[in-house]
Amino acid sequence: MKNDPTIDIDIKRAPTSKIDSIDFENLKFGHIFTDHMMTCDYKDGSWQAPKIMPYGPISMEPSAKVFHYGQAVFEGMKAFKDDQDQIWMFRPKDNFNRINISAKRMAIPEFPEDYFFTALDALLKMDKDWIKKGFGNSLYIRPFVIATEPGVSASPGTNYKFMIICSPAKSYYNGEVRVKFSEDYSRAADGGVGFAKAAGNYGAQFYPTNLAKEEGYQQIIWTDANTHSFLEEAGTMNIFFRINDTLITTPTNDRILDGITRKSLIALAEENNINVEIRKVPVQEILDAAKEGTLKEIFGTGTAATVNPISGFGYKGDKHELPKLTDSYATFFKDKLMKIQYNLAEDKHGWRYLV
Ligand code: COI
Repeated sequence: MKNDPTIDIDIKRAPTSKIDSIDFENLKFGHIFTDHMMTCDYKDGSWQAPKIMPYGPISMEPSAKVFHYGQAVFEGMKAFKDDQDQIWMFRPKDNFNRINISAKRMAIPEFPEDYFFTALDALLKMDKDWIKKGFGNSLYIRPFVIATEPGVSASPGTNYKFMIICSPAKSYYNGEVRVKFSEDYSRAADGGVGFAKAAGNYGAQFYPTNLAKEEGYQQIIWTDANTHSFLEEAGTMNIFFRINDTLITTPTNDRILDGITRKSLIALAEENNINVEIRKVPVQEILDAAKEGTLKEIFGTGTAATVNPISGFGYKGDKHELPKLTDSYATFFKDKLMKIQYNLAEDKHGWRYLV
């Protein structure tokens, strides 16, 4: 990771801060943004110098390609403040690598690592008061890239904007999360863009998720597009199933996001002698395990959601509630992970990054 002090960032500070008007105890996820944002333009074949400026609207032509062809990718990262006021991020190099993997798939030019880390460091230092101490408080960081080139010809743009905006956060989901196993809609297909954090992967989930919400579910666990008989991911989260004491999660491939929380949990499970099977997860196996009482837990993992237990699921009109455990793996992993993130536990893997 390169934070290069020789990179010249053009900084324009907000004349006043909004921070005193924010109720940090009652934050709705992703609704409030900090005082500053980072923006960097791609033109004439290269990324120009990054700028940090007051958070606010940007202006673009209505014909900008992002509006017509959805050429947009993003990331989700978090920063945490420890008791000594140090700011930490969690595996940020993995997010940086992934935004470029996503960008490549969407024919967007890759962003330079030294620009990313230098600008991110500067932005987090400027908005450091927005990162509140205390387990559960964080700053959600949203890097994204959009095609700004005007013109509606269906071809990749030559002008782009890379931006980073930040939002103080507590939990992503409030209350219990029940999921529907998808019977007909799909999130991703072989050879498609499911592995990328392409904006359209998320927008395409809204309509089927609204239908599921009418039936009392908050999320959908997508099934494979060919047969709808294997459980894949929840769209905002990768998914783990616990049958007896074994965890099962689907392998990453071109349909599944290579979740950073997902792979951290797999590593934590292995070092805590919890058996993890990374293999396809048949819907029927989960239905049978629920019937036999061996399905102990389902939980989702993601940067925004951290580790989120699923209270119940539905499939083809049948609803199943999951047991409430006192020794849940979801609680165990959430605690282990957050202690590393907040600098309260040893960081054996070198996942923490000091800002
Ligand atoms: C994240 O966990 O950062 C995500 O990207 C999920 C998001 C759509 C809120």
